[in-house]
Amino acid sequence: MGRKIAVVSGKGGVGKTTVACGLALALSKNGKSVCLVDLDIGLNNLDVLLGLENKVVYDLADCLSGRCRLKQALVTGNGFENLYLLPSMRFSSVKITPLQIKSITDKLAGVFDFVIIDAPAGAGENFELAVYGANEALVVVTPHMASLRDADKVIGLLKGFGISETSIVVNRIRGDMVARKEMLSHTQISKLLKCPIMGVVPESDDINIYSSFKFDKIAKSKTVVAFTILVHNIKTDKKVIYDYESRYKGLIGIIRRNIKRSV
Ligand SMILES: Nc1ncnc2c1ncn2[C@@H]1O[C@H](COP(=O)(O)OP(=O)(O)OP(=O)(O)O)[C@@H](O)[C@H]1O
Ligand SMILES: [Mg+2]
Repeated sequence: MGRKIAVVSGKGGVGKTTVACGLALALSKNGKSVCLVDLDIGLNNLDVLLGLENKVVYDLADCLSGRCRLKQALVTGNGFENLYLLPSMRFSSVKITPLQIKSITDKLAGVFDFVIIDAPAGAGENFELAVYGANEALVVVTPHMASLRDADKVIGLLKGFGISETSIVVNRIRGDMVARKEMLSHTQISKLLKCPIMGVVPESDDINIYSSFKFDKIAKSKTVVAFTILVHNIKTDKKVIYDYESRYKGLIGIIRRNIKRSV
């Protein structure tokens, strides 16, 4: 059986879709078969991010109402190997139950190595759907107080959903600001939330290029390295944290920090 991982957050806009997408892509580049499930019902945008919106014929609601088979709703393309998307819907009159979602993600886990679920923000009804469909959760947080406070609530709620493993992905971290002690580090965040870290993704303009899969343009960028390390951590017990501060240490690091601050 494949692993079923829900990518959740407390606060909205912290990077769940970006992390879900980047992780799925890095896993598929690593030879794993992956199905992304868009459960941000109503505000779904994974199809757009993957450039697959024109390929979508059926969606989750069609599968659940029996208008199509699960296989017919899955879309792929754009040169992705082993990466599929189960699209969500913009509008739905279909009432979806957690058990229906579980049965869909169980079927997918029978075929794919990884089922990655992009959840809506917060802890509403659709958050429950996303979490019921998974047995592991990645809580995406940014190093800002509002994000951490909301993540803390969500981590508390996850305990009641039979999730076997919950860990944090710190997104949009800035090495220069952590080095200047103007931003919390990943270890401080982990301690505050009493939750282990799965990985960090630095703040970077490359993220949009990464999401549009033009890897050759950014082959050695910190975004690619961070997602490669994230995949390593997900696949093994030995966690490695991307050293986002290294560029900002030592004499040259201090100069870099000052340049970054002044421009
Ligand atoms: N590491 C990063 N560096 C720079 N920009 C980022 C990073 N991560 C995410 N972003 C940007 O932040 C914005 C929000 O990201 P995203 O849509 O992934 O958040 P979300 O948590 O899925 O939002 P929602 O709660 O609305 O679903 C996007 O414009 C994305 O490009
Ligand atoms: Mg999203």
